[in-house]
Amino acid sequence: MSTTPSPLVGLLREEVLPLRAYVPDPKRPPIRLDANESPYPLSDEARDRIAQSLAQLSLERYPDARAFALRQAIADHVGGTWEEIVPGCGSDEVISTLMTALSRPRPGRTRASVLFPTPSFVMYRISSLTHGHTPVEVALGEDFALDEAAMLRALSEHAPNLVFLATPNNPTGNRFDPAVMRRLIEAAPETLFVLDEAYAPFSGETVSGWVAEYANVGVMGTLSKVGLAGARIGWIRLPLTLAAEVDKVRQPFDLGAPSQEMGRLGLTTLWPELSANVEAIRRERARVSAALAELPGLKAHPSDANFLLVSVARDLGAVMDALAAAGISVRRFASAPAPLDRAFRVSIGQPHENDALLATLSMLLS
Ligand SMILES: Cc1ncc(COP(=O)(O)O)c(C=O)c1O
Repeated sequence: MSTTPSPLVGLLREEVLPLRAYVPDPKRPPIRLDANESPYPLSDEARDRIAQSLAQLSLERYPDARAFALRQAIADHVGGTWEEIVPGCGSDEVISTLMTALSRPRPGRTRASVLFPTPSFVMYRISSLTHGHTPVEVALGEDFALDEAAMLRALSEHAPNLVFLATPNNPTGNRFDPAVMRRLIEAAPETLFVLDEAYAPFSGETVSGWVAEYANVGVMGTLSKVGLAGARIGWIRLPLTLAAEVDKVRQPFDLGAPSQEMGRLGLTTLWPELSANVEAIRRERARVSAALAELPGLKAHPSDANFLLVSVARDLGAVMDALAAAGISVRRFASAPAPLDRAFRVSIGQPHENDALLATLSMLLS
């Protein structure tokens, strides 16, 4: 295998060169609490149901390019009509589709800009860069709330095409104040606000109805956090006429027939099982959070999501080593600015996994 640099490297968009491809840790520790997935495997009944449905598919044919049955199931779930839903291979692809569709620079500018708070979901920045847009990052304020004044300044200075607000936010876990979000949305009617509800099932709150209220709001969702990360199903609900434009950019066969069917089943027949698991995760979140509060030197920030951000007062390295030795993976943000560099993010696991986490931390810190 040749390792000489490609002669075509000069053709790459300059923002691509410094990026690193997403390579998950190849070590698969027994207790994986680093990716905000659901810790619950599907039941045998659910697996049988999926197997039966998938066996009926005509895999020699292309899938339904409209993904009609899936979009109808999503609309039944979040509100609106199926034409308002643009699906994708996970919300990652939806983000990319939006970046491609809404990419025209404002008059007098050479690039479109994309605004989001920081820290937040890393794909907003990466996708902005790979699409040649200018990412504009505004630091969150106290208790990880939106800094309304700074966001308003950035809206007026940069006139972004897109704003991404993950609520609840990753990796901080908190929801943003709906009144602040409304004021931002109303201040910039010519910017699309993408309200990313990847973790909303764990908060019990949704702003999905805002799509009917505002012409400049889309609400994004995914099945990745509620038990179907492997199926790669994401979507955005947009105002009807904008959805029709954005859908032109989506690859017609992005979601294969098995994915479309898995998504449909997830939102219908399998939904009672998935939502029972969401409830179990919420209960465990309360228990783990209370137990962490008893341990010296740790602060678990309040969370509406399926994970906790935990600040560590001293020797984060020793905490990471102890967790790794116990076979527990969590997410660290070593090169991030304060306060993230002194924290780790841990997904809520099954009760026995959470017990192992708490026992390890308690042994080290008590
Ligand atoms: C806020 C947020 N949005 C979207 C995603 C991506 O979800 P998907 O698996 O649907 O691409 C994540 C995944 O971590 C996330 O944290």
